[in-house]
Amino acid sequence: MEVIVAQHAGFCFGVKRAIDLAQKATENNPKVYSLGPLIHNPQEVERLKKAGVIPVEDIDEGHGKIIIIRSHGTTPEKLQEIKAKGYQIEDATCPFVKKAQSFAQRLTREGFQVVVVGDKKHPEVQGIVGWSGYQALVVENAIEAKALPYFPKIAVIAQTTQKSENFWQVVEELKKKGGEVKVFNTICHATRTRQEESRKLAQEVDLILVVGGKNSANTKKLAQLCAATGTPTYLVEEAADLDPKWFYGKTKIGITAGASTPAWIIEEVRQKVEQLESLEKALLDVKPLKEG
Ligand code: F3S
Repeated sequence: MEVIVAQHAGFCFGVKRAIDLAQKATENNPKVYSLGPLIHNPQEVERLKKAGVIPVEDIDEGHGKIIIIRSHGTTPEKLQEIKAKGYQIEDATCPFVKKAQSFAQRLTREGFQVVVVGDKKHPEVQGIVGWSGYQALVVENAIEAKALPYFPKIAVIAQTTQKSENFWQVVEELKKKGGEVKVFNTICHATRTRQEESRKLAQEVDLILVVGGKNSANTKKLAQLCAATGTPTYLVEEAADLDPKWFYGKTKIGITAGASTPAWIIEEVRQKVEQLESLEKALLDVKPLKEG
């Protein structure tokens, strides 16, 4: 059995940066806080907790405490509130998310109706909307874009993890409305690279494992893209989720992972797949007992 791990599986630049920043902060402080879980990966969040990075949803008085803003970013109001409560902020907002935030802020000030293509409930999108002074509208797809009224000046930006086809379908729909449409493609290369690579790998193997948190949007999107190729696809959070039955008769296994999956979990999954192979071989080698 051949096991191929996608070249860009796992942490993207922004997530790696956030984790490095948090770990560095724990060097001189036994406990630091993150506004929400630092990444969408329960196993890594647990590991970080043990290292002293504690996720909090509500912020109490925090004089002198360090709080990490995760790579998704947050709203300007939240930043103000945190500062007012006395926290020292370590801002790990990914620079690509920051770019989308500043487009939203600047273009709203310039009189554009900002339209964000993304998931309304996602914290990154909520943060971007916050930077537009809550003026930006969010659409998830072209159908929702079609339902928008006419605006003389529209600026379209994307949640960084958007699928490019969906983004451009929305742009096309908005152009039909006749006003001025400025397009700012803020889709991050890390997402695009992982999506294209995973789809290609899925087409080359008999089975593909997508490793990542079941609460991670980018991991779920990778799994959808892989499954759409027709190759059996399994989304697993860790090595313990593997079912030996999946691998019977399969000779080429692909492994890919979302941008929030740490390398140590990908490696554990790879090793477990290889152990299953040795186990299968050992079972096939067992000779039946001679009769009589
Ligand atoms: Fe940043 Fe792209 Fe990762 S926006 S957090 S590098 S997926």
